[in-house]
Amino acid sequence: MKNILLCLDTDPQPSVFDGVVAIDTGVEHLFQHGGVTPDQVRDLVHGAMFTRGGNALKHTAVFIGGSDVQVGEQLLAAAQKAFFGPVRVSLMLDSNGSNTTAAAAVVTARRHVPFGPETIATILGGTGPVGQRVVRMLAQEGVEVRVASRRISRAEGVCHRVSQAVSGARVTPHSTESSDVASLVEGVQLVIAAGAAGIELLSAEARQNASSLQVAIDLNAVPPAGLGGIELHDKAAERDGQICYGALGVGGLKMKIHKAAIARLFQTNDVVLDADEIYVLGKEVASQQ
Ligand SMILES: NC(=O)c1ccc[n+]([C@@H]2O[C@H](COP(=O)([O-])OP(=O)(O)OC[C@H]3O[C@@H](n4cnc5c(N)ncnc54)[C@H](OP(=O)(O)O)[C@@H]3O)[C@@H](O)[C@H]2O)c1
Repeated sequence: MKNILLCLDTDPQPSVFDGVVAIDTGVEHLFQHGGVTPDQVRDLVHGAMFTRGGNALKHTAVFIGGSDVQVGEQLLAAAQKAFFGPVRVSLMLDSNGSNTTAAAAVVTARRHVPFGPETIATILGGTGPVGQRVVRMLAQEGVEVRVASRRISRAEGVCHRVSQAVSGARVTPHSTESSDVASLVEGVQLVIAAGAAGIELLSAEARQNASSLQVAIDLNAVPPAGLGGIELHDKAAERDGQICYGALGVGGLKMKIHKAAIARLFQTNDVVLDADEIYVLGKEVASQQ
């Protein structure tokens, strides 16, 4: 029985990256659909779940990707609604690598900063797919999170959604257009830059001047760095008294988490992997390193 991954992508062109990772994880056939909308999911998922019965169902799984994590969540909900009791297949949501990248960043930070009510983190570019999931995972850990965006309404939207998903979340929205970015990293122990590729969000000087800052993680792999002075390959590099990671310093763990999640889909037919589950998996993967 061949392992088949049905990839439902919310973007017009299904992600090549997600396809390559799936093949490298041992998926034998990829069925890639682009521009998928929630109303199309039921029939696509029925095609996956009614063709193979019983124990063979675990050889088919569904991966949801694309650059819009909110629409991705709607696809995930529609897929779950399409199931009939045990007649189901495993599901994974990872829009733009959001859950796997966020899990890698937060698990990495956790190695150096004790998470708890005293910990404060700033997430720059906190409104993208990756940033939103970083905020959610940190909030789940009890960390106080400042969500930064150019537009306050976008940061407010993320805070609202995270508060709905995480009971007791301590998240506050901030606009980088109305406040100085440097002030957003004052008094914080952790900063994670999850901004768009090739955009510097915090200068090296502002980072160096943040006296409370212990750990700085930049997820942007395209020069210039999102956090000034951090190098792409930095992996627990000590700079200016701070522990620093560049995008490639986190990327290895991200790939391991992504592959572990795909492999998990084919162990049983009833797995649903979203932010919480992928974060738990991330901790397991990191503990084995
Ligand atoms: N290291 C890895 O393994 C790995 C894996 C996947 C992704 N990534 C990287 O992680 C980062 C986040 O990915 P993503 O898909 O979530 O990013 P994204 O959606 O492209 O951008 C994230 C946020 O950046 C802000 N932004 C966009 N253009 C900007 C500009 N010109 N100036 C200032 N801010 C701007 C936007 O926030 P506002 O509009 O709200 O300000 C946006 O929501 C990217 O750099 C991506 O390449 C790394």
